[in-house]
Amino acid sequence: MAEARTGKFWKRLAEQDLATSVWALEPAERALVATPERLDLTARAFARIIDAKSPYTSRHSEGVARTATAIGAYLGLSDPAVRDLRRAGLLHDIGKLGLPNTILDKPGPLTAEETLVMRRHATLTGEILARVAPFGNVAEIAANHHERLDGSGYPRGLSEEHLDLPSRILAVADVFDALSQERPYRPAMLLDQVLATMSSDKGARLCSESVDALIELVSKKEIGGSPVKGPALGATLMRSPSSGRYPWCPGRALRNRKTSLRKI
Ligand SMILES: [Fe+2]
Repeated sequence: MAEARTGKFWKRLAEQDLATSVWALEPAERALVATPERLDLTARAFARIIDAKSPYTSRHSEGVARTATAIGAYLGLSDPAVRDLRRAGLLHDIGKLGLPNTILDKPGPLTAEETLVMRRHATLTGEILARVAPFGNVAEIAANHHERLDGSGYPRGLSEEHLDLPSRILAVADVFDALSQERPYRPAMLLDQVLATMSSDKGARLCSESVDALIELVSKKEIGGSPVKGPALGATLMRSPSSGRYPWCPGRALRNRKTSLRKI
């Protein structure tokens, strides 16, 4: 407090090596060990911040993490690999924090320039996570969530041989959750429509093994799309960004409109 009053504290914040200054302020005995549980909590906290940025992505990161985790476990990934997949799911859209809401929530088609900005979020995700040591090992998986097997995805246009199984699983989980929720440019889809749409992309753009696992898990009711769970996604107390109606449940309205895969 004394330092703050004299201005010394604020001067420190302006120093070039801010990280060292901040570390120096933290008493050694207060240092926290980054246990796996604490890292999970940290990832979950960031997921809530990311999802809160737009009313259209309410609980999206948690939904992707849940679906990816279930598919990974079903396909026999090891426990550490499943844990990494969950963290990658929770953090995959962290790059969106660097994007303006005028683009994220735009109700109409994006211009070519806006599309480039939107697509930058995947690159930003990779860059951010690569700089945070405990999450560096999931940076690549998280940054690949819009890549597609045929090389038509972004940001790098990676094709099948460059996409590992966790990256493929995360892409499937992201598409599943995104199609299940309303977006500013399209309505939510019903669960059977979501699965039919994803099946038609199986093997070409989306990993067959992961889509088959998803379908199996849905049939066993171990995974459910948001239109089925509805209010469980936490959107019932929100006002619809498109109609202004309140309360709003994504997926309740507009289900029969033509749906586009444009920006998933
Ligand atoms: Fe994304």
